Amino acid sequence: MRSLEDELFPSTPGKVKIERTHTINRQFYRCFASTSTMFLWALFLIALTASYLSFQSFVDSGSRYFSASWGGIQWEKQVRNSAQISRSDDIRNGGGKMSVLVTGAAGFVGSHVSLALKKRGDGVVGIDNFNNYYDPTLKKSRKNLLSKNGIFIVEGDINDAKLLAKLFDIVAFTHVMHLAAQAGVRYAMENPNSYIHSNIAGLVTLLETCKSANPQPSIVWASSSSVYGLNEKVPFSESDRTDQPASLYAATKKAGEEITHTYNHIYGLSITGLRFFTVYGPWGRPDMAYFSFTRNILQGKPITVYRGKNLVDLARDFTYIDDIVKGCLGSLDTSGKSTGSGGKKTGPAPYRIFNLGNTSPVTVPTLVSILERHLKMKAKKNIIDMPGNGDVPFTHANISSATHEFDYKPTTDLQTGLKKFVRWYLSYYGYNHGKPIN
Ligand SMILES: NC(=O)c1ccc[n+]([C@@H]2O[C@H](COP(=O)([O-])OP(=O)(O)OC[C@H]3O[C@@H](n4cnc5c(N)ncnc54)[C@H](O)[C@@H]3O)[C@@H](O)[C@H]2O)c1
Repeated sequence: MRSLEDELFPSTPGKVKIERTHTINRQFYRCFASTSTMFLWALFLIALTASYLSFQSFVDSGSRYFSASWGGIQWEKQVRNSAQISRSDDIRNGGGKMSVLVTGAAGFVGSHVSLALKKRGDGVVGIDNFNNYYDPTLKKSRKNLLSKNGIFIVEGDINDAKLLAKLFDIVAFTHVMHLAAQAGVRYAMENPNSYIHSNIAGLVTLLETCKSANPQPSIVWASSSSVYGLNEKVPFSESDRTDQPASLYAATKKAGEEITHTYNHIYGLSITGLRFFTVYGPWGRPDMAYFSFTRNILQGKPITVYRGKNLVDLARDFTYIDDIVKGCLGSLDTSGKSTGSGGKKTGPAPYRIFNLGNTSPVTVPTLVSILERHLKMKAKKNIIDMPGNGDVPFTHANISSATHEFDYKPTTDLQTGLKKFVRWYLSYYGYNHGKPIN
């Protein structure tokens, strides 16, 4: 029987066959050898590519993590530097030197208040989540402006209890100026939970942090004129009823007033709630009527003007941003101290509420005609009955409490304030004599 070896390597006939077989084998072997080398090379290249890609994704995810996050030596240094107090005078209406945590610092009011505090030498650290309720690039531009003035805005949410506690670990804030909120009346019908997230849950998280801080800061926060809801008695006074809100936004602000009261009562936190009346001005909010009217008039688009019951024009107590800033600073200066320690109240602390308005309501059609004059363009008006979406027909502030407490006196009328707004708008959005600059 032929062995397997004979089968493979027959002894007869001939070597040629064997040689040929050897040649084939050698070629096959060489071929196999080069294929396996190629295979190994391919494996090596695949491994190299894979490790490069995974390194890249590690770097990417790392930078994403770090940019969307907080912490680290450099970050703490930025917080500390921003909180540095540079004023030398000590006594101001019993207020003294301040280091203020400003929530919503990339927002309209927050950016103005932060700049004013820094300008007079107070320490300021901002926090903002840069949400996209309106164009976040406007918030980033405000952030850049603040950064040029030595103010650092931490990118984070007021619902992040760990972040808030960390900030209070780094800086013994004397005051919190709480302006972060989901603003806007009509948007509540689209995204009601955003109001609960920021105006209720976020507020409670912030108050929990403040109550446990040692020393406890004094808190000044933005409520809203919308708490007066469907009231018809004018002007609105702080002692008027506030139990008939017309929107979820108003309801969350009213709830904020009750929630802050309990933290004042139980934990001795000093609380001042400010009911702002339709704030407007440079760096304003794009969702507000004066802002979107300006945009539409410049673009030749129609504007929608709401009219109240019995064809009555809507009216607002429009308040210029600089007057609101003065009211915020006056409130901070006179806020009085919190009395709690180790999370426990040791005595009564101030609980105050003030209207911050202009005391001279102007109808919406008058607002439009002032804008037309400043823009030197006619508006295409689409006048319709006010839908039941949360708006109220008029607002009018009685400001005697704020005047009495910290000499609050608004000085800018709508005509002057809108002129400043329009000048800012045209330059920020790149217009030259009403024409966009390309
Ligand atoms: N502008 C007005 O006419 C007016 C009137 C009455 C009351 N208010 C109140 O004044 C305050 C400031 O208003 P504004 O006009 O500057 O609004 P804004 O929207 O410009 O500013 C609010 C800022 O808070 C931030 N923010 C929202 N939720 C947050 C969260 N959970 N964590 C961190 N940041 C968050 C937003 O990104 C925004 O930058 C708000 O509380 C608002 O309700 C404003």
